[in-house]
Amino acid sequence: MNAAPASLRDEFPLLAATPELHYLDSAATAQIHRLALDAVVRHETTRRANVSRGTYRLAEAADLAYEQARQTAARFLNATSTDEVIFTSGATASLNLVAHAFGGTLKAGDRVVISVAEHHSNFVPWQMLRERTGIELALIPVTAAGQLDLARLPELIDSKCRLVAVTQCSNVTGAWTDVATLVTAARKVGAKVLLDGAQGAQHGPQDVRALGIDFYAFSGHKCFGPGGVGMLWGRGELLAAMPPFLTGGGMIGEVTPQATTWAAPPQRFEAGTPPIAQAVGLAAALEWMMSLDWPQIHAREARLCELMIEGLQRIPGLRLLGPEAQEARAPIVSFEIPGLHPHDICQVLDAHQLALRGGHHCAQPLLAALGAEVCTRASIALYNDEADIAALLDGLGFVLRELA
Ligand code: ALA
Repeated sequence: MNAAPASLRDEFPLLAATPELHYLDSAATAQIHRLALDAVVRHETTRRANVSRGTYRLAEAADLAYEQARQTAARFLNATSTDEVIFTSGATASLNLVAHAFGGTLKAGDRVVISVAEHHSNFVPWQMLRERTGIELALIPVTAAGQLDLARLPELIDSKCRLVAVTQCSNVTGAWTDVATLVTAARKVGAKVLLDGAQGAQHGPQDVRALGIDFYAFSGHKCFGPGGVGMLWGRGELLAAMPPFLTGGGMIGEVTPQATTWAAPPQRFEAGTPPIAQAVGLAAALEWMMSLDWPQIHAREARLCELMIEGLQRIPGLRLLGPEAQEARAPIVSFEIPGLHPHDICQVLDAHQLALRGGHHCAQPLLAALGAEVCTRASIALYNDEADIAALLDGLGFVLRELA
């Protein structure tokens, strides 16, 4: 069997320690790379101090490590400036930040366009903004395969539209978004574009300038880094015009009993003590990601995904969600087996050392549009191999024997 290079799986401490585990839930959380873990431990044991506050050497070392992490993230994203790179607690926090701060510059009647395929974290903040300000929230529908139905763009993205906020890649179907078409439509009417990269960034370094977008959000724990840290990239001139979201220490210019002025970005958006060691760990993961041969990894992941889909299609009654064309999807595959609840499926699979997610995947509008309430999801990352796919197909055989 053509297994992943042993060295690659072995670079992930948890996978190295549990050779029997078939981890197929990287869309929820990817395993942490050893270099990221080492960087966290090194930081916490040699440079632990708060940042942007202390004048002693330990604090200066922490400052330097934190700002170097920002530089690494800026390179991962091909940002113009490190000032455009904000550390948050994760993609959800990044999306809420834009909905509050950029959203704070919108007025009643302005339109924000999202899609039916959004994760709840790019759905609910905009519904809340609609309640607060009276903006109009419009939805790009999806096709039967779960792809954004771009035929509707001319009526949705018109002169009332201020922002198009969509996922780069669905966490349920793996469908990639046609970002170029959306950016072209948005540019024509002067609207901004936010891309939720929660599922995209795991599949390689990004070029926010080439994408032509205005905001990009992603999470560290899905990019082989620690949890509790994420990023928001925003165009400098937009960030400079935005009010803060969270307020407190570190984000002020001056506070008097009467009023407060704001620091410049990115500090304006980093109130309180940031996730310092986590940022340093994430930078180590991103640095490692930037050293990889991505075309080769994509080809390998696509092969595994195809193998999995072929096997799933042989299971009587199983319904696959998402696009058929391999190049239209990331290696995320969701399916339904009539009469079997995903939680039961996942529990039986767990007994066979398989880790998969089942449920509504925080994407209830998408599942409703696809005619499902819940589904089971297998997601592949660069450390998976043919053995994981074979184990899943065998495991589903057990599921059918035990539950059907
Ligand atoms: N957003 C993550 C998922 O899709 C948690 O599982």
